Amino acid sequence: MNPLKAQYERFPYPPIYPLALPKRGQGRSLSYEYGLQLAGKTEGAEHPRLLIAGCGTLEPLLVAEYHPKAVEIVAVDLSQRSLRQAKIRYWFAHVAPSRFSLVPRRRFGPVTFVENDLREFRDIAGFDYIIASNVLHHVEDPAGLLQHLSSLLRPDGLFRMVTYPKSSRTWMRRTSAFLKANGITAATPRLRKRAFQLIRSLPANDPRRLTFESQPETRTAAGIVDAFLHVQENPLGPLEWAHACKDARLELVAETQNETSRSDFLDEVVPELKHLNAWIKLQILDDLLELCSNPVLWLRKTSHPSKSVAVPEFSTNLVGAAGASIDVRQEFKTNLKRISILLEGTGIDVQTLFDRFKNEVGPRVSPEDEEIELPGLAMTDYSFDELMRSNKIL
Ligand SMILES: C[S@@+](CC[C@H](N)C(=O)[O-])C[C@H]1O[C@@H](n2cnc3c(N)ncnc32)[C@H](O)[C@@H]1O
Repeated sequence: MNPLKAQYERFPYPPIYPLALPKRGQGRSLSYEYGLQLAGKTEGAEHPRLLIAGCGTLEPLLVAEYHPKAVEIVAVDLSQRSLRQAKIRYWFAHVAPSRFSLVPRRRFGPVTFVENDLREFRDIAGFDYIIASNVLHHVEDPAGLLQHLSSLLRPDGLFRMVTYPKSSRTWMRRTSAFLKANGITAATPRLRKRAFQLIRSLPANDPRRLTFESQPETRTAAGIVDAFLHVQENPLGPLEWAHACKDARLELVAETQNETSRSDFLDEVVPELKHLNAWIKLQILDDLLELCSNPVLWLRKTSHPSKSVAVPEFSTNLVGAAGASIDVRQEFKTNLKRISILLEGTGIDVQTLFDRFKNEVGPRVSPEDEEIELPGLAMTDYSFDELMRSNKIL
């Protein structure tokens, strides 16, 4: 069996009991209507047809709740077990109205569940709206899959994608490499306990330990597998996405992640850079390790090739096992060099940018408790001069 499918058959995601129903309102941010507003469109399809790409166990119900008028919601996943859990939840929401606060009973959009690999998935009628949350970075060729999915969109259709950042995930990759190098795999018995034991053999201030212990996914074995032991993680950097979107005729229209993981966060810290293109801002934030949450990007299908994206072509390739074995200071120096190229002609140099983030944003804090600082996770916890003295550029 394909190892990716095998992983999700064993650990469906998200790992939520199939009869557990989401809180009311949880799916609002996924709605087509919300996307139309963000795209500045006054009207869209009255009875939209939707695709949830890599739907997992929860999204079909979240989406169905917000699209009672949809003509069809096609939920595709390669994991049979994930689909079974999603179906049970969808069915249970219909028969358990009181638990879902549905009085009078609410209508759900009709969901068609399809077990298939997205790369093989074909459709003739086309979709008004495609949702791809945390799936594109799990295939070998994320840009190719984006292009394929975009080909299924109707003209002017919307695409909502959530993907891992690339540079900003370095401590996750390094923690993952540490676990794997010490024999922890998805098949390890009593996985959660063993992973915690191993992590606690690291000094209390080791960034890998802080990363693991502060990560909410470590509450379950399935979360640990998804976040740290995944069989395939292949995130693209923002500039790589910019080019992929251009090739797929998709135009960035909005970002809805929390305020520190959106391109306009850069405007707040360095207003002089406001004029830069959103993709470049995201690349700068990613290379500073400041994209702490997965960006949420809304794209619109254009009928003609998108306006040329004024972004440089240089590679942002730093991921994978090799990335995790490279000295962290050298990696950061490479990031800073890349930023300095992006800043050319702006009147702001990379040290000024670094110092602004150091003084105005400061160290990383726990996602669960903002009072708890996580020293060593932010790039600005390191000395700029020392980073720039690292002897090699990658
Ligand atoms: C991290 S989970 C995300 C689930 C859901 N989108 C969410 O955000 O809650 C990734 C999902 O994508 C599915 N998936 C990954 N690669 C796929 C592919 N090539 N074709 C179909 N499904 C895929 C997995 O089976 C899994 O259910």
